[in-house]
Amino acid sequence: MTTSDPKPVLMFDSGIGGLTVLREARVLMPERRFVYVADDAGFPYGGWDEEQLRERIVTLFGDLIERYDPEIAVIACNTASTLVLGDLRSAFPQTPFVGTVPAIKPAAERTRSGLISVLATPGTVKRQYTRDLIGDWASKVHVRLVGSERLAGLAETYMREGFVDESAVRDEIAPCFIEHDGRRTDIVVLACTHYPFLVNRMRKTAPWPVDWIDPAEAIARRALSLLPKERRPHEPMPTEPDNAVFTSGNPDPAIRRLMQGFGLRS
Ligand code: DGL
Repeated sequence: MTTSDPKPVLMFDSGIGGLTVLREARVLMPERRFVYVADDAGFPYGGWDEEQLRERIVTLFGDLIERYDPEIAVIACNTASTLVLGDLRSAFPQTPFVGTVPAIKPAAERTRSGLISVLATPGTVKRQYTRDLIGDWASKVHVRLVGSERLAGLAETYMREGFVDESAVRDEIAPCFIEHDGRRTDIVVLACTHYPFLVNRMRKTAPWPVDWIDPAEAIARRALSLLPKERRPHEPMPTEPDNAVFTSGNPDPAIRRLMQGFGLRS
């Protein structure tokens, strides 16, 4: 980066899931420079002890903010956002943070059957934040929380190798589908940013059609709304390609290729 380059937008996830948000963000703000950070050394986040994960992410952001001085940070991860968003905002008040939390409100507004499911990591499912969203916005509908142990890993494998075990996807999504008094689940909230990569397989293996809510575009819009409206005339376009940073320091060749495909230098 040259000193005249504008500050980047930092996009953070435990792995490749945040790329589903990055691709929407790039559509809305093509002139922005992005730094994509994957805490692959901590992946998957779903099974972490809450206090240890909180500490890990806040410490990591101390370094990231010092190193990249982002204009804004997007936590493109439900498992992290539902746990540490508040801590990050208090620890780094100069940096605006955009979080990704389960899209329970729009699902509750849209459902016709009154039965919705939230598909997420085990961590997101057990968070108080998620329970509060249901209490605040979905008290009149039936919400089934489904914590999947395997889907984030399956999405990583799929994006690395181009292959996914469809029967495993079918088994993981099966608990989302319930029938009650002649009514059926009609909306599944994709509450993990990895899952949109598998949505075609989910459609294919679902017992009946539902709306799958992917919040990526809404998150990108929120990020855009927090950035200054007009590029200042003296601000040049970025001169450097976007970067991908891995906390392991050592992503495998398949991941490097994937990043390259997204126009990210790793
Ligand atoms: N992509 C992350 C999320 O949105 C979680 C993946 C994981 O670390 O298990 O929750």
